[in-house]
Amino acid sequence: MTEKPTDTADFGTTRRGFLRASVAGSALAVTGGAGMAQTPDPLITTVQPWAQSFGDGVDATPYGLPIRFETDVVRRNVPWLTADVTSSINFTPIHALDGTITPQGCGFERHHSGAIELSKDDYRLMINGLVDTPLVFTYADLERFPRESRVHFLECAANTGMEWAGAQLNGSQFTHGMIHNMEYTGIPLRLLLEEAGVQPEGKWILVEGADASSNGRSIPMEKALDDCLVAFKANGEALRKEHGYPVRLVVPGWEGNMWVKWLRRIEVGDQPWETREETSKYTDTMADGSARKWTWVMDAKSVVTSPSPQMPIKHGTGPLVITGLAWSGRGSITRVDVTVDGGKTWHEARLAPQASDKALHRFYFDHVWDGSEMLLQSRATDSTGYVQPTKAALRAIRGLNSVYHNNCIQTWWVKSNGEAENVEIS
Ligand code: MTE
Ligand code: CO
Repeated sequence: MTEKPTDTADFGTTRRGFLRASVAGSALAVTGGAGMAQTPDPLITTVQPWAQSFGDGVDATPYGLPIRFETDVVRRNVPWLTADVTSSINFTPIHALDGTITPQGCGFERHHSGAIELSKDDYRLMINGLVDTPLVFTYADLERFPRESRVHFLECAANTGMEWAGAQLNGSQFTHGMIHNMEYTGIPLRLLLEEAGVQPEGKWILVEGADASSNGRSIPMEKALDDCLVAFKANGEALRKEHGYPVRLVVPGWEGNMWVKWLRRIEVGDQPWETREETSKYTDTMADGSARKWTWVMDAKSVVTSPSPQMPIKHGTGPLVITGLAWSGRGSITRVDVTVDGGKTWHEARLAPQASDKALHRFYFDHVWDGSEMLLQSRATDSTGYVQPTKAALRAIRGLNSVYHNNCIQTWWVKSNGEAENVEIS
């Protein structure tokens, strides 16, 4: 490599130009702009210890864990939100992940009465109420129904909920990390309801978990018969205890609270149950102080995961990968735009292919950073044509006192030194 970039402005104009610029760009970071290193690099020129003896045998790790250099890619909590550890919340490290699938081991958890240990042998699922035949299934029974595999995101209704009154938490993990995206394998709920025979007056179901909180929620029959899954696998393996082992409900595109873990009972009724979780909680406070009920769908939303407060730019000027996540509970994301100047100019980002409807999308925007401050935002548009709103637009309707369903555009202020902060712009 002898060429040096002479004009950063031509980065990315052609594919060859971009590749050349990228290699030189990393050299710039290493050598402080002086071009390629002149001294030999021992990591290239010397046989390293790991190439001088055997590595671990295959029996060293029957079940693999991330390598020790990646131990910071973990769930984290916000101490003031987590007064009681058994009724608590932690956050997915979305800032450090790429692609779209969330490994179960770092998918956020939300428990109202702690994660319980329920074995497959002790597992029962009852369907009762307005059905022809009340049924009780064992885990083995469930395994004999036709099953499907689909990727879906689960977003807690409270995700970004701490940001209503002002920019508060420093990091996409904390502002947007009550979300995960997994490939679920399970039985269409419709098949189990058909097995029991829903009576004509049956318009709603109540779903309940086996934990002490039970987390009861009413779901309209139309959704129950549409795309819900009674799932027992996530990302190919059994659900983790904290995600509802051995069986959880998957309610694609709808708020995470309805995705009942340790699912034990489904009652068919002719009206909603008005449970604690859908009256005192999970309603939306409006600007006039009234509460809006039955807001189940998670509207289109996106966030830049890197750069962001936990992912400062460390490589100096030149090529910069701006990336993030976008999702919509109403279907798919058709477009994500990114701005580096607080919304004065927008650029269409590249969307990676999506796995399923109502799943996370990954976007990339390949930028050439000149080292000046950025007000970084992303804005998602979904398959219904809905465009993610600004914070001001959302507040005009919802005021400042809401908790749930905050899908506004997020701003990161990236400073010249590469560090980023959560801010609001008006
Ligand atoms: N189901 C039961 N049985 N108990 C619970 O506490 N929490 C709900 C939902 N299902 C909960 C539950 C909430 S509020 C959310 S956001 C999701 O589960 C969280 O799922 P996760 O812990 O797998 O991320
Ligand atoms: Co929740």
